Amino acid sequence: MNIVELDRVTKRYGTSVPVDHLDLAIERGEIFGFLGPNGAGKSTSIKMIVGLLKPSQGTIKIDGIDVNKHPLETKKRIGFVPQDLAIYPNLTARENILFFAKLYGLSGKELNARADEALEFVGLTERQQDKPKEFSGGMKRRLNIACAIAHRPQLIIMDEPTVGIDPQSRNHILESVKKLNTTGSTIIYTSHYMEEVEAICTRVGILDQGQLKALGTKNELMKTVAEEERLLIQVTAQNPAALAELQQHPRISHVIAEEQTLELYVSDSQTILQDILFILSKHSVNIQSLQRIEPDLETLFLSLTGRKLRD
Ligand SMILES: Nc1ncnc2c1ncn2[C@@H]1O[C@H](COP(=O)(O)OP(=O)(O)OP(=O)(O)O)[C@@H](O)[C@H]1O
Ligand SMILES: [Mg+2]
Repeated sequence: MNIVELDRVTKRYGTSVPVDHLDLAIERGEIFGFLGPNGAGKSTSIKMIVGLLKPSQGTIKIDGIDVNKHPLETKKRIGFVPQDLAIYPNLTARENILFFAKLYGLSGKELNARADEALEFVGLTERQQDKPKEFSGGMKRRLNIACAIAHRPQLIIMDEPTVGIDPQSRNHILESVKKLNTTGSTIIYTSHYMEEVEAICTRVGILDQGQLKALGTKNELMKTVAEEERLLIQVTAQNPAALAELQQHPRISHVIAEEQTLELYVSDSQTILQDILFILSKHSVNIQSLQRIEPDLETLFLSLTGRKLRD
């Protein structure tokens, strides 16, 4: 049975529709990646799944149970790591975990054992008596995760848990996600970093402007953009006339120019290369290097929406 089911879920604020008739089923055991740019509607969707926001329309079921009709029943099954930290700066790390675990109904010996387990899991055992106000951003994030997992939920939902933290904590979190999954939890992992989603997720949903633009395993999604290729060209300086000409080329679908890089989305890079070199040399643009990049989720996102995942 699916652990999460969304049926035409919509959220409206006046005329803005951050989540627009979203249908989605997540199977038990998945690491589901929810990918989308800023403002796509990821957090709004997640908050509705967790029961913190009511949909304007549509139904959400966790484990077959309607979130709006039985909020307590469904909340017990979920561990939620919100995008904005939810920890108390003046409680110790351990006290924070105990606080949240009690909310989920743990007590006595079990409570303490699960707190130990959660601290160990996020690598904060040594710092358990310290207060998070003394922690680095990455440590706070890890504590936030520990607070969400101590009650061993079936479903763990993480909303951008790696934004703005050091690479070491980031890797630690990504490894933790995989470990939580192998020990039996289904994961929903929200991010706008496609590298992370590619690295850990078994299936990906791409959200943009409140709608699901694509859904599938990475391989399934990549097949849809197999013909599209990315060329990265380092140049000494940009030339507007050259850019205009590249943009007009029938086999170049997108041109993204930054200070000294040109990113071209092309079909059949082998035969188009001559055209590109000709255009650049005609406008006296010096090429420093040229690289072909395998299609990835970034390519897919651009081909679906005409925009980049990150600006
Ligand atoms: N309470 C609210 N009232 C009005 N509009 C809102 C409200 N909450 C969110 N929105 C709008 O809904 C849209 C989606 O926001 P949401 O936070 O779900 O995006 P997101 O995909 O999580 O983005 P990010 O990557 O920046 O976290 C945004 O345009 C936002 O301004
Ligand atoms: Mg968000």
